[in-house]
Amino acid sequence: MLDCFAPKPAPGAVPIVPIAKADLKKRLDKLPPRQAAWLRAAGFTGATGQVQLAPDEKGELEKVFVGQGDDDALWVLGDLPQRLPAGRYALEAPYDKKQQTRAALGWALGSYAFTRYRKPEKKKIALDWPRKADRAHVERMAEAVYMVRDLVNTPAADLGPAELAAAAQALALKHGATCGVIVGDALLKRNYPLVHAVGKGSVRAPRLIDMTWGARGPRITLVGKGVCFDSGGLDLKTSAGMKMMKKDMGGAAHALGLASVIMAAKLPVRLRVLVPAVENMVSGKSYRPLDVIASRKGLTVEIGNTDAEGRLILADALAEADRDKPALLIDFATLTGAARVALGPDLPALFTDHDDLANDILRHGAAEADPLWRLPLWRGYRQGLDSKVADLNNISESGFAGAIYAALFLKEFVSDSTPWAHLDLFAWNARSRPGRPEGAEAMTLRALYALIEDRFG
Ligand code: BES
Ligand code: MN
Ligand code: ZN
Repeated sequence: MLDCFAPKPAPGAVPIVPIAKADLKKRLDKLPPRQAAWLRAAGFTGATGQVQLAPDEKGELEKVFVGQGDDDALWVLGDLPQRLPAGRYALEAPYDKKQQTRAALGWALGSYAFTRYRKPEKKKIALDWPRKADRAHVERMAEAVYMVRDLVNTPAADLGPAELAAAAQALALKHGATCGVIVGDALLKRNYPLVHAVGKGSVRAPRLIDMTWGARGPRITLVGKGVCFDSGGLDLKTSAGMKMMKKDMGGAAHALGLASVIMAAKLPVRLRVLVPAVENMVSGKSYRPLDVIASRKGLTVEIGNTDAEGRLILADALAEADRDKPALLIDFATLTGAARVALGPDLPALFTDHDDLANDILRHGAAEADPLWRLPLWRGYRQGLDSKVADLNNISESGFAGAIYAALFLKEFVSDSTPWAHLDLFAWNARSRPGRPEGAEAMTLRALYALIEDRFG
């Protein structure tokens, strides 16, 4: 797979030499005077993002110096696949196994391009695998991130509920998992009324995707919001608000991505992935404001706004997930604009009442350079979801704390005893950074994989 790595190392690769800002003087002193003079003349300081190509006496490329700033090894090579000329390269750094693995992963993540509709410029560029790098880890993580990015980048016309289900089934087939899909009106018979209600306005039938893998070990269940396009339904979005909504299945892509890593690593767990896949559209069959719908769990829900659709489909999926009392239940969703107002595009919001789980997730996030930020399931706001006619309203009238209301809504469908975490994430890079090109992005995958490996691996 990964053609950004050379199949085997051979002589003649151009060394890539990372230099951290703090080490600059020491490192320059140890270089051949010609190279040190070149770097000084070029104004190289070791700052993040600096790339300095150095020639030999014949004027040929001899070395690539790259500024590491004071950053993690993860992103140090992240820009280079885009910026270096064609050729074969090798990392030359005093890195331990962990740092080599991270640098290789950054190279792989920075080599991604979305090529479905346009052939990439053919530039043959490859890195020799750093000798101590954990190749299998890099390959399965990069493969999962590429899958998430491809799914999220694909426009809604080419990725509806059926295509999302097909992607899940292809993943299941690859890893020997079982994947059932409940389609259209069968959702009513099988008691997924909220998934059905949200999806019924589209000519593309809604689905409940249910994948299971692994014969023994603790149960881990991943749930992902699979809104393939979110027009807002009858409470229609503005054109600016609607524009990016092909990515509203980002949560589903994340659930499948994390599942992919877990299955590729063959972790000793019983995995289940539940993805409600719908298109939130406007038609004569759409659900309406103030409709009341009985959920899978039995709680009735009054529709305050058809644009708060993600929490509705997740409610039925979470109720089902909760039934088998998993040892860990995680849901991923591009759930609210409010989470982005609070934390911006790069920081997913983490909600859980289980402090030990929160602390573990945050700790792994920091260790993996895969940050998240905890927000509260603030009980004081719960009455804001009360309805005058049903058990619950899907929105609060308050204009404040939108991400918290959405999370509190979900909480109604999960038992207090279930170790459940909810992640409200953007799934998109608003701008390019090393290893993270503008466009679709997998967020929290490294953090959660590390947590699961640590707890159950
Ligand atoms: N998919 C959106 C949330 C979203 C919007 C995520 C923009 C990322 C960027 C979600 O379905 C939605 O429309 N939420 C509404 C909820 C409101 C109607 C209570 C929102 O956040 O405005
Ligand atoms: Mn919406
Ligand atoms: Zn949505």
